[in-house]
Amino acid sequence: MNHAPWWRTAVIYQVYLRSFADGNGDGIGDLVGVRSRLDYLARLGVDALWFTPWYPSPMHDGGYDVADYCDIDPAFGTLDDARELLIEAHGRGIRIIIDIVPNHTSHEHPWFRAAVDSGPGSPERGRYHFRDGRGAAGELPPNDWISAFGGSAWTRLTAPDGRPEQWYLHLFAPQQPDLNWDHQEVRRYFEQVVRFWFDLGVDGLRVDAAPGLMKRPGLPDHGFVPGDRFTANTWEASPLWDVDAVHEIYRGWRAIADSYPGDRMFVGEVPVKRPERFASYVRPDEFHTAFNLEFIKAPWDAGALRANIDSTLNTLRRVGAPPTWVLSNHDETRHVTRYGRSAAGVGSGTEIRDGSTDLDLGTRRARAAILLMLALPGSAYIYQGEELGLWEVEDLPDQVRRDPVWHRTGGLEPGRDGCRVPLPWSGRTPPFGFTGAAAQPWLPQPSGWADYTAEAEDSEPASMLTLYRTATGLRRKLGTAAAETFGWQPSPHGVLTFGRGDHWTCIANIDGDPLRIDGDVILASEPLQGQWLPANTAAWLTSV
Ligand code: GLC
Ligand code: CA
Repeated sequence: MNHAPWWRTAVIYQVYLRSFADGNGDGIGDLVGVRSRLDYLARLGVDALWFTPWYPSPMHDGGYDVADYCDIDPAFGTLDDARELLIEAHGRGIRIIIDIVPNHTSHEHPWFRAAVDSGPGSPERGRYHFRDGRGAAGELPPNDWISAFGGSAWTRLTAPDGRPEQWYLHLFAPQQPDLNWDHQEVRRYFEQVVRFWFDLGVDGLRVDAAPGLMKRPGLPDHGFVPGDRFTANTWEASPLWDVDAVHEIYRGWRAIADSYPGDRMFVGEVPVKRPERFASYVRPDEFHTAFNLEFIKAPWDAGALRANIDSTLNTLRRVGAPPTWVLSNHDETRHVTRYGRSAAGVGSGTEIRDGSTDLDLGTRRARAAILLMLALPGSAYIYQGEELGLWEVEDLPDQVRRDPVWHRTGGLEPGRDGCRVPLPWSGRTPPFGFTGAAAQPWLPQPSGWADYTAEAEDSEPASMLTLYRTATGLRRKLGTAAAETFGWQPSPHGVLTFGRGDHWTCIANIDGDPLRIDGDVILASEPLQGQWLPANTAAWLTSV
C-alpha cells in the first residue's frame, strides 16, 4: 500500500483561468467555466488543479499584479464561485492549488497607493523599496538592477506638481512594485493570506518568484552590463535573488500549512542556478515541492534528458523531496512547437517565425515526452491544452498582444501570449466553444485548431487526449505499485530505458536507431510496427 501524501505523486493540471473556459460569454475564461468542465478534468485523470492568479487585478501581467490577496477578480467570478469550485472539485477527488504572489503587489494595491500619496520618508513607503536616485539631481536609478521584462528595475515617480520624485523597485513590470520583506507588517499580512486560503479549503499554494523576496541589505549593484537579461537561473550570489534570508519566510509558512489537516502543500517557483541551492527550498521544513523548470529547457536529446533526470533525482533525494516534472507552462513556448524546431527544446520564450518548425515532428516528440514524463517518479504538471496537442500561436497580430515582455522590449521579444490562447472545446470554427458563438475570445484562436478541440479528440483513439487519458489511468495503477522506485536499465545510444519497481518499464527512443523491444507493451506513443520502436517514440511495458 502506498501511503505517501498526495503531492508526492500527483498529476497536476495548470489552469490559466483567463483562457480555459468562459462561463458568461464575455470572452474571458472564469470560474463558472471551469466548474462546467470538471468532468472533463476528472476524465483526464488529474489529481489537482493549479490556478494562475485569480485575484482582483488590473491585469498588467496576467493577474500576477495583485490588488487584493483575499478576493477573486470580478472577471473570473466571486469568492462564492471559488467555494463552489472547491466543493465540486473535492467531490470528484480533485484538489485545488492557487498561486500566491508575494514578491510584489499591483501598483493599485492600497498599500502602494498609500505609499505614493504619502511621500518620501513616510512609513507607508517602508513596505516597498523606495530610494532617491543617483546622479546630481537623482536622475539615475538607485542601482543597476534590471527587470525581468526588460529595462531598469526602477521607475521614478512624478510628484503632483510635476517634479521628479523618488524611485521604486520592481523586478517585474513597473505595475508590480516589490514589497519590502524586512517589514514585519508585510510578513504578518502574508501569513494571514496563507491562512485565509487554507481556511477556505484550498489544498496548496504555488509560490510565485519565490527566490526574489529578500534583497541584500543596502541594495548593492549586481554588476549587470548593458544587454544583460533576467536569467535568474544563471546567477550566483546576486543581491536581488536567492538571498539566504528568504528561507525564514517559507519556514514560517510551512509551519502554518502543517497546522492544518489534510496534507496542505506548497510548490515553489524556484529558478536558481545550483542544484544544492534549489534543494534548500524543499528541505523538510520549507516547501514540499518546487518546479523542475530545467526539464523544460532540456533539448530533445537523450543525453541531456538523462542528465536532467539524474541531477533532479540526486539533488532531491538528499532532502527527501519528490521531483516534479514540467513540459510546458504559461511562461514558456508550448513544447509541441519547441520540440518541432531544428534545435529542439531550445528557444523557450522565443518565437522562430521562419517556417522551420515541424509541428508533426514536435507532436510525435510531445507524445513520447508525456509517456517519459508520466513514468518518472514524483509529481507531474500538465499545462492546459497540452493534452490536446496545441502548439504555440506564433502569428498573433501585434495589436492583440498583452504580455509586458512584448511591450517593454519594444516587440523585440514576442513574449508569452502565444501559449495563452484560449482553449478550443468544440465546433469547427473559432471561438470553438470557448465562449458564446457571437463573442470574441480575448486572444484569437487559429482556425487550424478545428481538429484539436476536446470534442474532436474525445473519441479519437489516435488523439493526444486519448493518449493522456490512457497514460494517467495506467500511471495511477502502476505508480502506486512502484512507489518511488526508479532504476536505469542498459539501453543503446539515444534511448532512455528505466524501470519503476518490478513491473513497469519505460523505453523512450529519443534520437536513436529503431530498437527491438521484448515484453508486453501496454501503451505506446505511436502505433508500433511489430516490436520496433523508432526514434521520437516511447512505450510502457509491464511484466507480471
Ligand atoms: C512568475 C510567473 C510569471 C509572472 C512573474 C511575475 O515567473 O510565472 O507569469 O510574470 O512570475 O509575477
Ligand atoms: Ca467570462
